[in-house]
Amino acid sequence: MGFTVAIDGPAAAGKGTVARAVAERFGFAHLDTGLLYRATGRRTLDGTEPVEAARALTAEDLQADDLRSAEVGQAASRVAAVPEVRAALVEFQRAFAARSGGAVLDGRDIGTVICPEANVKLFVTASDDVRAQRRLEELVGKGADTTYDEVLADLRQRDERDSARATAPLKPAPDAILLDTTTLSIDRAVEAACAEVARVR
Ligand code: C5P
Repeated sequence: MGFTVAIDGPAAAGKGTVARAVAERFGFAHLDTGLLYRATGRRTLDGTEPVEAARALTAEDLQADDLRSAEVGQAASRVAAVPEVRAALVEFQRAFAARSGGAVLDGRDIGTVICPEANVKLFVTASDDVRAQRRLEELVGKGADTTYDEVLADLRQRDERDSARATAPLKPAPDAILLDTTTLSIDRAVEAACAEVARVR
């Protein structure tokens, strides 16, 4: 069994950045599990039924250009509340986590459901304001036409839906280390995460 790092947290808290940096530092593979839900949600926008969409996912679906849009994010959060959709995606994630060379997975339920035995569990958070600012900069940088208020409302709506669902809700595992990136620079957050991995490894 390889070394597994589980990174969870609400939208735009910085978990993707931390996950990529940890993976690079230690030579682990990285899986952004949000992409699985985004690709599933994107398919439902064409009228495909959610469970069917999840079961039919292909590697190409994970590379679609518009997966980061707010519309696809909302569709992802809706399909993510369907227990059979989540069940269809479990095996792929667990197989990825068990890679012999080590793996970092980031999402909402990695430490609680997908990899409860992960060697390191981090729960990355930041204030709503900071998360909205960061996501706004990212979207505007990509040429999106949106506002702070729209981004904030979008994040809050997804977080509420993700936290309130009955199956695999967004919450820290009891043994997760909390990393609040509100006042921590991304570099500092990465250092804290890497220190934790180095300590356990
Ligand atoms: O992380 P990201 O914002 O790309 O995730 C999109 C949506 O996918 C989340 O709002 C959440 O509903 C869902 N998701 C999930 N479980 C995961 C990863 C993402 O439910 N492990």
